[in-house]
Amino acid sequence: MTETKRLFVENIWYAAAWEYEVQAADNKLARTICEVPLVFFARESGGYVALDNRCCHRAAPLHTGRVEGDCIRCMYHGMLYNPQGEVIEIPGQDRISKSHRVRSYPVVSKGGMIWIWMGDPTLADEQAIYDFPPLSDPDNWRGFPQESYLHYAANWLLIVDNLADFSHVAFVHTNTLGGSEAYAYSTVAENIEKLDDGFSMVRWHRGSPPPPYHKAVIPPAERDKPVDRCNTISMHLPGIFLMETLFAPAGWDAAANDRSVCREYRNCQFMTPETRHTTHFFWNYLHNTDRDKPEVTASLQNSLLEGFMEDKVIIEAQQKLLEQSPDFVPVGIKADEAFVHFRRVWAKRLQAEDAAQPLVFKDNPRRIL
Ligand code: FES
Ligand SMILES: [Fe+2]
Repeated sequence: MTETKRLFVENIWYAAAWEYEVQAADNKLARTICEVPLVFFARESGGYVALDNRCCHRAAPLHTGRVEGDCIRCMYHGMLYNPQGEVIEIPGQDRISKSHRVRSYPVVSKGGMIWIWMGDPTLADEQAIYDFPPLSDPDNWRGFPQESYLHYAANWLLIVDNLADFSHVAFVHTNTLGGSEAYAYSTVAENIEKLDDGFSMVRWHRGSPPPPYHKAVIPPAERDKPVDRCNTISMHLPGIFLMETLFAPAGWDAAANDRSVCREYRNCQFMTPETRHTTHFFWNYLHNTDRDKPEVTASLQNSLLEGFMEDKVIIEAQQKLLEQSPDFVPVGIKADEAFVHFRRVWAKRLQAEDAAQPLVFKDNPRRIL
């Protein structure tokens, strides 16, 4: 009997898939989350089901099966599973035992995202999902409907680190999202608030030229005028990043609270561990001006994607180096404060789950391979 380290908090909601991803995959999608292979499928009566993707008979994948109403049939020997994961039909056999089942996971869809609870189903409280209101508010916010998924060859916490310190915007995104290296020198995160499940902060950059991604969608007459830019960020376990961005004419008085002269954006980024080395990354970037101009939506999507690919290059390179150097000890700087806190609250949650139910791995004398 060997004990190994718990890697993922289970009693928490993870972003699992955009609804459109399941629909585009013939209504059934294979996706591994927290190193658990799962199948997601749309049920005929509405909503989604998530089951272990490994048929209890001989481990054939259920995602290659056939959705029948609210059920899914394994297309190896034909066993039919209901949404609770129970086998309700075995072709050619009347007797079905209680062991003929796979695990079913609570799932909820909000704002186009399917969320999954990997832990004790009796603790799954829908209200704890970090729903992002702009995603469900097409009258006021326009985002893009698809192509908002990236697969990362890196641990999700490295992406959390990246988003916790926007000074990287100056160097990684100089010509895309940042605009200049001045962002790192002349701005600092203000009001860093350490939350029980993450952190929040505000970062102003005053009197600077509009960064390229914003410049591309504003009228030519405004493109050379300096702006004040404010990013208000919050990050929550397990990797939920929400951001409000405001661009105001330079010198704008925030206390006056008149935003009619401002342009605003809303951004969500959800990081979900696929494995300890890889991540599902979901995002959207929404605007409230020019909502009916698809070219504005497309320009923002392309610009942001360009920026995210810049992040991806450096984060995946970090991952490789870290895998090659397990003895690496980081040397901190002041700006690490937020992600150090995030790592701390994550570790605390892991320890609490471990104390409540230690993970024990047993040998399996009945394994078939
Ligand atoms: S492996 Fe699924 S029915 Fe046999
Ligand atoms: Fe970035």
